[in-house]
Amino acid sequence: MDSASYWDQRYLENQTGWDLNGPTPALQAAIEGLPKTAFILIPGCGFGWDGEALWKKGYANVYLSDWAPSAKTAYLERVPDFPPDQFSSGDFFEWATLKENQGKFDVVLECTFYCAIPPQRRLDYAAAMAQILKPGGRLMGVLFTFPLTEAGPPFGGSVEEYHDRFSTPFALESMGASPLSIPPRADKEVFFCAKLQSL
Ligand SMILES: C[S@@+](CC[C@H](N)C(=O)[O-])C[C@H]1O[C@@H](n2cnc3c(N)ncnc32)[C@H](O)[C@@H]1O
Repeated sequence: MDSASYWDQRYLENQTGWDLNGPTPALQAAIEGLPKTAFILIPGCGFGWDGEALWKKGYANVYLSDWAPSAKTAYLERVPDFPPDQFSSGDFFEWATLKENQGKFDVVLECTFYCAIPPQRRLDYAAAMAQILKPGGRLMGVLFTFPLTEAGPPFGGSVEEYHDRFSTPFALESMGASPLSIPPRADKEVFFCAKLQSL
């Protein structure tokens, strides 16, 4: 489950119940007004619908990360003018440690990546985000609120956990129900925005 081959197999077998086949309304609304020069990352992007939408809106510095080779291949076939080197195909956690990625991003967009990683990696997730965001940069998106289970992915979580997770070195700016959640997730997720504190 915590391997590129597990996820790749899910794509190859069309076991992709999370896939919206289009951009996530809450994420697209969240970046409204962001300068087109902003550096934006979508980790665990899967087929990359949100990345495609941002790229087509003129966000030249949108970066994607997913270690399932079929997800990247499908994305680059669909969006042939997207720079392949802006789609990292390795383990996100290793990629986040690379020198060139430190303090690089204005915004990281979260959607069904946090719930996909093993819960014991959640501290690593928060640490990686703190490494790759610029001081004052924001981690934002949607997080599931169904109870944490060992039967994932998806693994659940709670508002209480997210408050803890995205406190120091972040300041949680908002967390609550999102009017833009897709109907099947309406009562199962919250929209949040956490700002990386300046040093
Ligand atoms: C549930 S899917 C969500 C895909 C996408 N965010 C969406 O909403 O359609 C989780 C994705 O995270 C990717 N992933 C999981 N762990 C990863 C890791 N350590 N590094 C890079 N990608 C990872 C998987 O390959 C998978 O595509």
